[in-house]
Amino acid sequence: MHVTVMGTGYVGLVTGAGLADLGLTVSCTDVNDEKIRSLQDGQIPIYEPGLEEIIRRNRERGRLAFSTRLPEAIRNCLVVFVAVGTEAGPDGLPDLRQVWAAVDMIAESADGYKIVVIKSTVPVGTARRLADRLRQRPPGAPQFDVVSNPEFLREGSAVEDFFHPNRIVIGTLSDRAAAVMKDIYRPLYLIQTPFVFTTPESAELIKYAANSYLAIKISFINELANLCDAIGPSADVHVLAHALGLDPRIGSKFLHPGPGFGGSCLPKDSRALVRIAAAYGCPLRTVGAAVEVNERQFERVIEKLRQGLGSLPAKTVAVLGLAFKPNTDDVRESRAVRICEVLRREGCLLQVFDPAAMASARRLLGEDGMGYCSEAYEAVKNADATVFCTEWNEFRNLDLQRLKQHMRGDVLVDAKNILDPAAAKRWGFRYFGMGRSA
Ligand SMILES: NC(=O)c1ccc[n+]([C@@H]2O[C@H](COP(=O)([O-])OP(=O)(O)OC[C@H]3O[C@@H](n4cnc5c(N)ncnc54)[C@H](O)[C@@H]3O)[C@@H](O)[C@H]2O)c1
Repeated sequence: MHVTVMGTGYVGLVTGAGLADLGLTVSCTDVNDEKIRSLQDGQIPIYEPGLEEIIRRNRERGRLAFSTRLPEAIRNCLVVFVAVGTEAGPDGLPDLRQVWAAVDMIAESADGYKIVVIKSTVPVGTARRLADRLRQRPPGAPQFDVVSNPEFLREGSAVEDFFHPNRIVIGTLSDRAAAVMKDIYRPLYLIQTPFVFTTPESAELIKYAANSYLAIKISFINELANLCDAIGPSADVHVLAHALGLDPRIGSKFLHPGPGFGGSCLPKDSRALVRIAAAYGCPLRTVGAAVEVNERQFERVIEKLRQGLGSLPAKTVAVLGLAFKPNTDDVRESRAVRICEVLRREGCLLQVFDPAAMASARRLLGEDGMGYCSEAYEAVKNADATVFCTEWNEFRNLDLQRLKQHMRGDVLVDAKNILDPAAAKRWGFRYFGMGRSA
C-alpha cells in the first residue's frame, strides 16, 4: 500500500519512517524545500534517537522517499496522513491554517478515492468539518473519508513509541476507512497493541484529555514540591512522590517536580482544552488550574537563584539543559528558555549548554548576553551559580568536585532534582532543589 505523509516535523517524520518500516511504501512530503532537500541528502533535521537508522534502512529498501511534489504524492496513494503544525493562535486555540491548506491540497490533487488521516492535534469537531468541506466538491469529483488518528508519541522516545504504542485511536464514521487503518497498523495489532475504534469527536477529545491529565499530574506534584519547600527540610517531595506512586490508582509516572512542563504539546493542548470546553459552556477548572500553576512554576527557579545569589544583576549564571526535556533538541515552550529570558532581563550573563538543543535555542535566544558553550564544564567556568534545567543523563554524572573548582560561586539550583543534595553539600555547594533540601 502507498501512503503519503504531509509534514515532516517530529510527528510526520517518525510516522512516515515507522510506516515504511512496517512495510508500506511511504512518500514523506513537506512545503519546506530546505527540509526536504536535507532529508534527501540523508540529513535528519531533528534530534530523535533511532530515527536516522530507520530512515536510512527504509530509503535503501526503496520504501521511503522525500518530496515537495505534493500533488503527485497525493495522486499516487490511497491514504494521506496529515501531520502539519497546529501551533496555538492568539486566542489559545490551535491555528488550523496548515491543516485546511493541506486538506484543500488533497482535494485539488486527488484523482480518486482517498482516506485523509488527521494526525495533527485538532479541536473537537475538526475532522467532521474537514469531511464536510471535502464533500462540497463538484459532482463526479473523487470521494474522501476522514479519520482522526491522534498521535501520542513522546519526543525523545518517539521511535520506540511508534513501534510500541500504548494504544492506537481511530475515529471515523466509515467502515471502509476503519478497515484500511486496521490493515496499515496490522503489525502493531498482531503484537497486542490495544485499538480504540470510535467517532472522530471522541478521538479528538482523547488526545486533549490525555495531555491535560498529564499536565494536571505535573502541576499537582509541582505544587506539592512548593509546599515541601515552605514546610522546610523535614519535608521531601521525593519521598512523598514515591509513596503516592505506590498506590496503583495514582501510579508513579509524571510525579517528578520541576520548573513546569514545556514542549510543543502539553502547554498548547491543555490551554486549548480549556478554551474548547469553555466554548461548549462546560468549564474544565482542573485543567485551567494546572495551566495556571504551570505558567508560574518556573519563577520558583528564579526565586531560588535570587535567594542564593542575593541579587541577580551582573551575576554569571550557567544554565545546563535548554531542551524542554532530555533526548530532544526541541525548545518549544521550554522552561529553560523562559528562565534564560528572565535572567537576561534581570541583567545576568548566561553561559549555556545542552547536548542537543544548542542550535534551536540559539535561534530563539539570539546572541545578546548569551555565551554558548560546547560542554558543561565550559559553561560553569567562573559562574556564580549553576542551574540544571533539563534532566539529561550526562548531567546526572557530572563530577561535582570539578564543577565546584570551575565555578566562582557556590550556588547550585537543581530545577529537575537530578543531583544528590548531600553530595552537592559535601563538595561545598549551597544546594537548592525543588521540594527537597540538602
Ligand atoms: N511534537 C510532538 O511531540 C507531537 C506529539 C503528538 C502530536 N503532535 C501534533 O502533531 C502535529 C505536528 O507536530 P510537529 O511537532 O511534528 O510539528 P512541526 O511544526 O515540527 O512540523 C510540521 C511540518 O508540517 C509542514 N507543513 C506545513 N504545511 C504543510 C503542507 N500543506 N503540506 C506539507 N507539509 C506542511 C511544515 O513545514 C513542518 O515541517 C501538531 O498538531 C502537534 O500538536 C505533536
